[in-house]
Amino acid sequence: MRDWLKDLFRDRPVWINALMIFSSYMAFIYMPWDIFWKPVAEDQEVWFGIMFTGWWAKLMAIPHWFVYAAATHGFRRRRPWICTWGAAYTAQISIGMFVWSIVRFEFGLLGILLGLISAAPFALLTLALADAREHFSEVHKPMRARYGEWALITGASAGLGAEFARAFAREGVSCVLAARREDRLRELAEELEQRHRVDTKVVAVDLAKPEGAEELARACEGLELGVLVNNAGLGYAGRFEKQDTDRLADLVAVNCMAPVILTSRLVGGMTERGRGAVIFTGSVAGRQPLPLHGVYSATKAFDRLLAESLYVELREKGVDVLVLEPGTTETEFQEVAGEIPHSGQSAEEVVAVAMINLGEQPAVVSGWWNWIRAIIPARLFPRSLVAYIARDIIKERVPIEMR
Ligand SMILES: NC(=O)c1ccc[n+]([C@@H]2O[C@H](COP(=O)([O-])OP(=O)(O)OC[C@H]3O[C@@H](n4cnc5c(N)ncnc54)[C@H](OP(=O)(O)O)[C@@H]3O)[C@@H](O)[C@H]2O)c1
Repeated sequence: MRDWLKDLFRDRPVWINALMIFSSYMAFIYMPWDIFWKPVAEDQEVWFGIMFTGWWAKLMAIPHWFVYAAATHGFRRRRPWICTWGAAYTAQISIGMFVWSIVRFEFGLLGILLGLISAAPFALLTLALADAREHFSEVHKPMRARYGEWALITGASAGLGAEFARAFAREGVSCVLAARREDRLRELAEELEQRHRVDTKVVAVDLAKPEGAEELARACEGLELGVLVNNAGLGYAGRFEKQDTDRLADLVAVNCMAPVILTSRLVGGMTERGRGAVIFTGSVAGRQPLPLHGVYSATKAFDRLLAESLYVELREKGVDVLVLEPGTTETEFQEVAGEIPHSGQSAEEVVAVAMINLGEQPAVVSGWWNWIRAIIPARLFPRSLVAYIARDIIKERVPIEMR
């Protein structure tokens, strides 16, 4: 509990932590009470100094609720936008206080004086928030300075892996690119060297083979690896008894065994240096049972739990761990998994989410819509119901002969 609190309140001055606590009190306790329990006749809500009562107050409380929920998230995750939006909100309160006071005292000198006194604390808060950007910008410290010279990215020949490599190279990190298709890796290596002036190393490896991950770890010996991206992975859609056993075994080997072996082999160097990062590409599929994608969903739950555990274990050694949980992303994944094509986010968009959240939290779902779909049903409804609903959604994406 103490470590959790330390982690929660780290890297922010006391006054910003106080604002975070106040916002979460408002979002989780006061506003729900105000909206759902407080009698309509007693309800009052103020926006820009204008007082709303009765049902209007109930209605105007909803944007207030949203503001405090967003502020809780912004302070907690140290989002840079909170400086602007937080300042705008407190400025609005400050103006409201002033206007209210002068109207109440019929534009007399006393009203102006009291208005200035009551508006001043909020005006100061506005200035402080507008000037607090430094406390919210650590996430933008270049990756090379944070973690070191080299990153190993598995599954770099396509999709999310190739985008991870581009994202780290943009930040000056040299890249070891691993996958089976060597020609694709070489093409990407050339792009990264020319465009971002970083070094690259290509390792063609089959991570489904028992010795694959060991071979890859050996190929990285001598490099100061500061980042490991356990991204290589595949899906396999279809009814369990119709699926090929060897292909299922390969899926588990690539999605689970390879990340375990690589992390185990490579994290020691990071802990010795006192800095490093390990990213796992999980999936929203790991948040719930997923009939017709059962083994895949189980492997991604494995990745998530492993990452969340390592986040706590390795944090004190200076190593950041993150599991990125994308929803449908437009890569070669669907084709490999044998799914009927359907649209999703771009790989670039998804990787950007990981880059922003690395070091900030143990797990991140890409995109708010994916977050709503993945987190809320899994927390609110019986798991069997969630599984039945998921089956009906997935069925539409699985060819008839595999259903
Ligand atoms: N796309 C989505 O909708 C989605 C959603 C959630 C999570 N994810 C996860 O995101 C990760 C990346 O997938 P993606 O969407 O970028 O799919 P992708 O375009 O199919 O890329 C998969 C990568 O994994 C590599 N790979 C597959 N089997 C391998 C093996 N046996 N040995 C070595 N490398 C292997 C592939 O390289 P080679 O074929 O060249 O070996 C490729 O570079 C996966 O872990 C996936 O589960 C994807």
